[in-house]
Amino acid sequence: MPGAGGRRPESDPQMAERAWLRVASAAQFQDGRSRTFQLEGVEIFVCRRGEEFFAAENACSHAGFPLADGDVEGGIVLCPLHGATFDLRSGEPLSPPADAPIRVFPVRLSDGSVWVALDGASPASP
Ligand code: FES
Repeated sequence: MPGAGGRRPESDPQMAERAWLRVASAAQFQDGRSRTFQLEGVEIFVCRRGEEFFAAENACSHAGFPLADGDVEGGIVLCPLHGATFDLRSGEPLSPPADAPIRVFPVRLSDGSVWVALDGASPASP
């Protein structure tokens, strides 16, 4: 995964409050497709839906299946193994068999790149 893990640009004051890690150029994301990255020992997936990006740990809380293989619609990811769904903004499970949340991470676009903060609990609170 070339390019993953760079540090945030110092010139962007909007990004000063967290330890942002660059995952890739925004142009490398196709709408509706997820990509996986290893960031500081955490496997995450990042997906793009239109102009919105989501990032979450790449493991279902039910049995650990990779969520990067699941469909994403309206900010909700479907686990392809047993059908649990998760809100990618909060990480909360929305349907069984999962009953525990997944880790989700704030995402920002800056300098044409996609940045993820592993220290954030939710994209809703950067
Ligand atoms: S592993 Fe995802 S619902 Fe079972």
